[in-house]
Amino acid sequence: MDGETAPDDFVILIGLMGAGKTKIGKQLADKLDMPFIDSDREVEAAAGCTIAEIFERFGEENFREGERRVIKRLLGGPPAVMATGGGAFMDDQIRQLILNNGISVWLRAPIDLLVERTSRRNTRPLLRQGDPREILQKLADERYPVYAQADVTVDVTGEPANRTTKEVLASVLAYKTILVASK
Ligand code: S3P
Repeated sequence: MDGETAPDDFVILIGLMGAGKTKIGKQLADKLDMPFIDSDREVEAAAGCTIAEIFERFGEENFREGERRVIKRLLGGPPAVMATGGGAFMDDQIRQLILNNGISVWLRAPIDLLVERTSRRNTRPLLRQGDPREILQKLADERYPVYAQADVTVDVTGEPANRTTKEVLASVLAYKTILVASK
């Protein structure tokens, strides 16, 4: 990637569980020649246990506090492509930090795809609390209007990940061009 066109700021991926933030984020970081960070993994590293264990032992509110602290710290460091947990952008403080510190990309996916993808792993505490489809639908209803504040939206429709990554890359670079031109 030509250093002049690569964003000099964070690129932050948001979206519901199963949208592909980690996979697309890694591929995007590679193409942009930027480091990749996964905020969920960083929260786990800071806590010394898994997200499921944090929820179980200390509750969701404790997880959200840790998530806020970790994302704040990460956004104060060197620019990277960052995948965030699905609830991160719903927090007022985190959302402001994201909007102020980089280009945010919402990976918008249909519920059927999210249900199918999240069924492959049993690591997400929120989806263990009932019927995963109903939970994902409820979260989509609550969150999609807020996710819509992201700078860029890319639809994920089940195509191979590298196709989505290409689309995200093009959208991010186009957004950056508009941003530079408007300054
Ligand atoms: C959550 C999403 C998860 C993780 C936690 C809560 C959410 O991350 O942060 O289980 O509130 O949507 P992924 O979106 O990466 O699965």
